[in-house]
Amino acid sequence: MDIRSIHFVPNLRCNLACSYCYVAAHHNASMPSLDNLKKVCLFLNSIDFMGLHIEGGEPFINKENVDCILETLKPTDETYFITNGMFLNEEYIKGCLAHGFRKFTISIDGTKSAHETHRGTGFDLIIENIKEIVKFDILTSISTVLSKESIQELVFLVDLLLPLGIQEFRLGDIVQVGRGAIRNESFILSEFDYKLLLGVLDTLINRRVKISLSLNPLRVPHFFEEGIEGLGFEIKKYGCSAAKSQFCIDGFGNIYPCYNILGIPSKEVINIFEHNITPETVLASIANSDIKKKCPYYSEENAHFYARYYPSRYC
Ligand SMILES: C[S@@+](CC[C@H](N)C(=O)[O-])C[C@H]1O[C@@H](n2cnc3c(N)ncnc32)[C@H](O)[C@@H]1O
Ligand code: SF4
Repeated sequence: MDIRSIHFVPNLRCNLACSYCYVAAHHNASMPSLDNLKKVCLFLNSIDFMGLHIEGGEPFINKENVDCILETLKPTDETYFITNGMFLNEEYIKGCLAHGFRKFTISIDGTKSAHETHRGTGFDLIIENIKEIVKFDILTSISTVLSKESIQELVFLVDLLLPLGIQEFRLGDIVQVGRGAIRNESFILSEFDYKLLLGVLDTLINRRVKISLSLNPLRVPHFFEEGIEGLGFEIKKYGCSAAKSQFCIDGFGNIYPCYNILGIPSKEVINIFEHNITPETVLASIANSDIKKKCPYYSEENAHFYARYYPSRYC
């Protein structure tokens, strides 16, 4: 099994309850013990992979847990924290840097209006925290979920962040899992929204913003794909990569074939503490797992959600 990425979800607890969140994240989800967390980090240190995404829940919600991760986990060049940015103050940043963690993706869904429509609160605080972060020379990108509201505010968000030195934006539509599966009108993009998105992308490319787009190709209208190729994007389509090139592990040692089904009891493939297992056994179990039977969200549509659209000049 050639593992490209591992999603490490130290905790499902979160301070927010975003409208579309695929994770069963909630305010009082139980936290793993420091001992468990340390063992999971040591397990991760013992296997080979390309990218590690540390997310959640909110990965920075508990300082003791963060300190444990920073002290135990060995970061690679492709280790990222994905965070809602609300706790990411100077103290946390200095701690991360001291242990070699230099990459952060912060989730922002537009300017204040769209962001807080979906995330409830926090826009001003995140912008203040970003102003602190950019003082340190670290790699920060923004992740924006594309809803009707965020598409309309994207250019304003970029105008706010470009002068702060943030140039990389990861845009993706809403994966229909968890709360994202609710038929909320603003989650389903119309032809008008895709037309608007094309115009927005044109503007951003002219401002030399680095963009990656992750969209469900079964929902993308034909004119959008043509338009985006005209803008110089390269289109790569992937099938579902669960249990093939990615898996997810939580702070309790449960391994799931895919981060979209974490937190759903009985869907984990194996728990690293339950058996005297080696990393090889774990990987074999994941490779042998049948995601179609295990994933409650499996559908033809979801099986195709890994389409990535890259402006070719950045490849
Ligand atoms: C689950 S969150 C965990 C990390 C952190 N709490 C945050 O919000 O960045 C990781 C990323 O997944 C995105 N996300 C959550 N639910 C989604 C969905 N249904 N479809 C697409 N992206 C989603 C979030 O916007 C965020 O950028
Ligand atoms: S998207 Fe992130 S911040 Fe929002 S509820 Fe989910 S885990 Fe929490």
